[in-house]
Amino acid sequence: MKLTLKIWRQAGPDAKGRLVTYPMDDVSPDQSFLEMLDDLNRDLVLKGEEPVAIEHDCREGICGCCGLMINGQAHGPVKGTTVCQLHMRNFKDGDTIVIEPWRSKPFPIIKDLLVDRSAFDRIIQAGGFVSVNTGNAQDANAVPIPKKNADLAFDAAACIGCGACVASCPNGSAMLFVGAKISQLALLPQGEPERKRRAVAMVKQMDKEGFGNCSNVGECEAACPKEIKLANIQRLYREYVRAAWSISEKV
Ligand code: SF4
Ligand code: FES
Repeated sequence: MKLTLKIWRQAGPDAKGRLVTYPMDDVSPDQSFLEMLDDLNRDLVLKGEEPVAIEHDCREGICGCCGLMINGQAHGPVKGTTVCQLHMRNFKDGDTIVIEPWRSKPFPIIKDLLVDRSAFDRIIQAGGFVSVNTGNAQDANAVPIPKKNADLAFDAAACIGCGACVASCPNGSAMLFVGAKISQLALLPQGEPERKRRAVAMVKQMDKEGFGNCSNVGECEAACPKEIKLANIQRLYREYVRAAWSISEKV
């Protein structure tokens, strides 16, 4: 396939960026999107030019590193699919593909397509963990958990922290991500001891990082490569209100 790539190039956080056009003459429909960018970078290096900075790791849809805007859609045109799992057969010969980084203030651009998503790490550090002793693997199986809760917790735990929800939301909200992380633990007995403190601390950090509030657009759910459900935002509200009331009552 012959394609025309228009890629956002930006030398550093404070540099002025611009879209640069790269013709690609021999793209296999069986390549992944990242393999296609690998080919571009190989050619750029052979020509003595600077390769395009991109982030990637697992290339199997589980690490959350590879998020890009492809023709204005987070992770590209295929629902429930990360950039690394997107194949070039989803594009047509002669297509022009515009590739940009996430655009959101709490995710500043480091270089080209690479953004700093450490705001998510700080939200997790604030409360997205269990510090009680939960025993070994067999102990987890010994704790009875209703099937419905186990399934909902598992679905929420599928969030890979990619940031597509933030990048797609007109209000830059991180509530689908935070809702998934809070739900995953609120639904399980192992998350119970720190449940209230967790909800308050993670929401506080989310606000501190500058993410917006949910405005019920629903674009986050549509863009999420792991199809995390909006119901996790409703659970986030409930967890937060219950925790904030109970903490303020004690004060
Ligand atoms: S909720 Fe979905 S889009 Fe948002 S960080 Fe998690 S996996 Fe990515
Ligand atoms: S590289 Fe890990 S999810 Fe795409």
